[in-house]
Amino acid sequence: MTTPYERKQNDSVSDDVVWHNTTVSHQDRIELKQQQPAVLWFTGLSGSGKSTVANAVESKLLSLGKHSYLLDGDNVRHGLNKDLGFSDDDRVENIRRIGEVAKLFVDSGTLVLSAFISPFISDRQQARDLLEAGQFLEVFIDTPIEICEQRDPKGLYKKARAGEIKNFTGIDSAYEAPVNPEIHVQTADKSVEECAEYVVAQLAELGYLTLGEG
Ligand code: ADX
Repeated sequence: MTTPYERKQNDSVSDDVVWHNTTVSHQDRIELKQQQPAVLWFTGLSGSGKSTVANAVESKLLSLGKHSYLLDGDNVRHGLNKDLGFSDDDRVENIRRIGEVAKLFVDSGTLVLSAFISPFISDRQQARDLLEAGQFLEVFIDTPIEICEQRDPKGLYKKARAGEIKNFTGIDSAYEAPVNPEIHVQTADKSVEECAEYVVAQLAELGYLTLGEG
């Protein structure tokens, strides 16, 4: 017997499951919300500032009247993905599910912010491939590991160095940095506010804050 997790390679559980189109379309939702939906896919090391910057960006989007939703690594692992750990396979499945959830939110007309380490290039590419061109923006929160380790907000680097946590990203598990991210935030010499302002400025420049230019 295969478990739902093992069945993940298949397109659907059964050949008898067919796609059902909804009466209200993606375009209807875009027109109602008056915005260009997309996912801002934040990626970076643990402690790099993904969640903090994504939260600050979301506040700015709210004050611009944008409909958004933040999917956060630690929070999603309390619910939807609470069955997953930090082996390579589990991280792949974590990101696969988030990619699918992000796709649903984009279909709903929402600006999605996702903040997961998402350490593997191929998984981020898979999430990108689920969406139309222009609906996926990779946001690299580029913070050197020395700084992440110095901050160590949850004390996890300390535990990883002591061997109390295995497969810790950047220590004994890989982080594959983006090669050509749409938005590259070098955080070392910037405040959270400056990072968030930079992301929003880039979004505006790329046409995502004005309907029809995305
Ligand atoms: S991912 O690699 O699968 O994308 P995700 O973003 O969901 O990771 O979760 C990362 C968060 O889980 C980290 O910010 C940290 O708080 C916590 N964590 C616990 N164990 C690990 C580990 N072994 N490696 C990285 N993060 C871990």
